[in-house]
Amino acid sequence: MGVNPIPTYLLPDSAQVIDGDVLVGGVSLIGLASSYGTPLFVYDEQTLDERCRATAESFDPGVAFASKSFLCGAMVKLALRHGLCIDVATEGELDIVLRAGGEPSSIVMHGNNKSVRELSRCIELHVHRVVVDSFDEISKIAALLSEGGTVDCLIRVTPGIEAHTHEFVRTGQEDSKFGFSISSGEARKAVELLRDIPGVTLHGVHAHIGSQIFDTVGFEEEIAVLVTFTKNDSFAEICIGGGLGVAYVEGEVSPKISEWGRMIRESALRLGLDPKTRITAEPGRAIVAQAGITLYEVGSIKELEMRTYVAVDGGMSDNPRPVLYGSEYEAFDVARPLAERDRAVRIVGKHCESGDVLVDQAWLPSETGVGDIIATPVTGAYGYSMASNYNRVPRPAVVFVKDGKECLVLRRETLDDLARLEVE
Ligand code: LLP
Repeated sequence: MGVNPIPTYLLPDSAQVIDGDVLVGGVSLIGLASSYGTPLFVYDEQTLDERCRATAESFDPGVAFASKSFLCGAMVKLALRHGLCIDVATEGELDIVLRAGGEPSSIVMHGNNKSVRELSRCIELHVHRVVVDSFDEISKIAALLSEGGTVDCLIRVTPGIEAHTHEFVRTGQEDSKFGFSISSGEARKAVELLRDIPGVTLHGVHAHIGSQIFDTVGFEEEIAVLVTFTKNDSFAEICIGGGLGVAYVEGEVSPKISEWGRMIRESALRLGLDPKTRITAEPGRAIVAQAGITLYEVGSIKELEMRTYVAVDGGMSDNPRPVLYGSEYEAFDVARPLAERDRAVRIVGKHCESGDVLVDQAWLPSETGVGDIIATPVTGAYGYSMASNYNRVPRPAVVFVKDGKECLVLRRETLDDLARLEVE
């Protein structure tokens, strides 16, 4: 993080920085803020298209977009246009995909505690894959299939790998609520149980070692464990999950999706995987993070002796990641994108707690004042999808931009929306 103007490689692919504005998809961010209000999520379709295309090209059919990272009908349609499957983890996510016209044959169902209702819906719909996570789930599936029906499964295993990332988003280690441990023999037992259930087709294994991972060594270890575990199974598919990291702040460098795919495939083949075995994945963040940018309006600036607080009209309700994981972001003044960011500030939200920090150590031009529009780039993943109504703050609108046109894909919540659950 530093005083230079915002590095353009953190912006969406189509961003053009001009004097007095930034265009994304050929559309003025200042104009969008004034048409749709703030806070506002803006997504660059060019970036989404490029990342989806790279994902489809780098892995085999069955590769999915992890919808938990950002889900709405427009995003589902975009991912499906690129031939990706959609990974969902609850019936809520499943429902949005179906409403957007997603075919069950494109849906991969996850979850460490799928309800009987969720499982029976998946069987009824005949989704592409159910990723089986526990012995209790195996019993539920066996009971549901005892009256007929079929289900196509993968089994989720824990490869026993400590990925280099925040402990809250680490999942491949032995001490985890997800999957069946390979080293304890549970994964092998689960494979055998599933194979014995009439109606179950077990296509292969799945693992997910964590999220926001830059170091590809973890993925190499993962594929090695999976190839070894399945060497006598003649499975048709190995899914390595998601987790590829993205750069959020100046100085960070992440592998491209194509490099990730190539590295996994080369390692697998080197380890002796049958080249006919499909290698799939399910990235979320790497597809949507950099496509998204959040616009806020500055509402108050407090100059204290020890620091300057810049308060904006959103906060932990539209981006809880800094509070949850200590995640870092950059910020810039949309009308002054070429100016030196020479003033150190802390960007905070409007929520009633001191922890409501968006950018702990941000740099903005000293001219930035109340009423100006500032942006935090790389907010496309796990921002809107984890947004809340804390302090009864309505969720922002979401706009897609492309070729000089904008399209509102999720409208801003209203006070009526917030009151809709009241019974009286
Ligand atoms: N597959 C499975 C089974 C997952 O659990 C996840 C993410 C993904 C794929 C997609 O991972 P990605 O490619 O997006 O890293 N809220 C956290 C991230 C939680 C990730 C949960 N699982 C954050 O904001 O950093």
